[in-house]
Amino acid sequence: MNITFAKLSLPSSGTIVVGVMEGRSLSPSAQEIDAKTGGALARAMGADRFRGKRGEFLSVLAPSGIDAGRVLLAGLGKAKEIDIAGLEGLGGAIVAQLNAAGETQASIMVDDIKGAKPSGAKMAAAVAFGARLRAYRFDKYRTKEKPEERPTMKKLAVLVDGPSKAKDKYAECEKIADGVFFTRDLVSEPANILYPETLAAEAETLRALGVEVEVLGVPEMKKLGMGALLGVGQGSVRESRLIVMRWNGAAKADETPVAFVGKGVTFDTGGISIKPSAGMEDMKWDMGGSGVVLGLMKALAGRKAKANVVGVVGAVENMPSGSAQRPGDVVTTMSGQTIEVINTDAEGRLVLADALWYTQDRFKPKFMINLATLTGAIIVSLGSERAGMFCNNDQLSDRLMKAGDEVGEKLWPMPIDEAYDADIASDIADMKNVGAGRGAGSIAGAKLLERFVNKLPWAHLDIAGVTWSKKDKNTVPKGATAFGVRLLDRLVATHYES
Ligand code: BES
Ligand code: MN
Ligand code: ZN
Repeated sequence: MNITFAKLSLPSSGTIVVGVMEGRSLSPSAQEIDAKTGGALARAMGADRFRGKRGEFLSVLAPSGIDAGRVLLAGLGKAKEIDIAGLEGLGGAIVAQLNAAGETQASIMVDDIKGAKPSGAKMAAAVAFGARLRAYRFDKYRTKEKPEERPTMKKLAVLVDGPSKAKDKYAECEKIADGVFFTRDLVSEPANILYPETLAAEAETLRALGVEVEVLGVPEMKKLGMGALLGVGQGSVRESRLIVMRWNGAAKADETPVAFVGKGVTFDTGGISIKPSAGMEDMKWDMGGSGVVLGLMKALAGRKAKANVVGVVGAVENMPSGSAQRPGDVVTTMSGQTIEVINTDAEGRLVLADALWYTQDRFKPKFMINLATLTGAIIVSLGSERAGMFCNNDQLSDRLMKAGDEVGEKLWPMPIDEAYDADIASDIADMKNVGAGRGAGSIAGAKLLERFVNKLPWAHLDIAGVTWSKKDKNTVPKGATAFGVRLLDRLVATHYES
């Protein structure tokens, strides 16, 4: 779907989308159409329960007096409550409506709304961004789809006073969308195609944008002493990799970087502590955290963010085999600390233990934020609306919460106080990789990670519940969400650019 911006004027074909505020009050463009059609819009609203509430739509077909085939009334809610996140959602919902109707071409008329906070240009960019995000589709493996089964929308024009301002704003959004789509593509790939080596090759494509990329293989990681990460990968014929990316965009070249670390388990069978087969196919997206780190690097480099940013990914495949690690094995991490592996399915924390230690040891960053589809327990706690945030620094957690609210990728704070340390005490090693009993499983994971951040400001985002969506939602079609890319891009943009 191609998105363009142009000046406000009445389109002569396709669908025209116009806004209606709550209480059926028409936007200026809607009033113009209503007048030209002899009051067709008001009559249509009178025959329906459409009120103009946020998220409501009403389709008016072939009204006489104008050339366009359809007018789609879009509810904006109360003028003073119009915000950017809501407008992005609206843009996404509009695309869904148009595709469902089989439309190929549409124009959204974005007026300056009295009492609304965002300007027309900002509203236009937000609606366009939402439309673009929703129009994403992973269809590379569909070879037999009939044209009538594909989304129909080809051209979307956003009409607004001052289209060049909207277009400039949108240009930056497009770079962020590129990052989001890169993540969604990676997370959607099946594990026979995407494994540590090919994930590293995907990271290397970022060199074209100016990202420095290094890939460490098994011998290098052995030398560094990464026994926990390597233990997880040792049962697989796919060799493990550590992917290190750097974007140096800060005005001062030696500016201390910020760092993002991702769990890249390209498939998680559970290992010898094998998972039940029902639903195991979902574990292709157990590299979701790493997908976000790659997509974030793409977004930041694409929009030439003025920040120094490090991205590190531990990429492994967790398989059962004659060479796999066993429950009860003790591994020695790069930090020197030892871990008793009670359950080989609690593998993400083992991978991150070495990836986090490596990151702080080498880069001494301002903070580290790791993302991981770490625990099923976080899905029990928070479902798929919010990701769990475990953080040892109040300023960082405040900034993360706020960035999440702004972009609609919401977090919820979880505890990591000392009392939980006892849960991961081992009888023979420095710690064990699972908690005690069935309680607080997500916290046990976070507490293990905490021991590898060397007291640096740090946040762990457990994204197991939000990485894959079972249903279409506003700006996110079902499937891989890329939750985290927009959030962390916003965090960097607001606080860490020079
Ligand atoms: N990758 C899983 C967590 C997961 C579960 C992600 C469902 C997405 C959806 C993780 O490696 C895992 O297996 N965790 C175990 C930990 C347990 C063995 C302590 C879990 O959550 O059951
Ligand atoms: Mn697991
Ligand atoms: Zn896992």
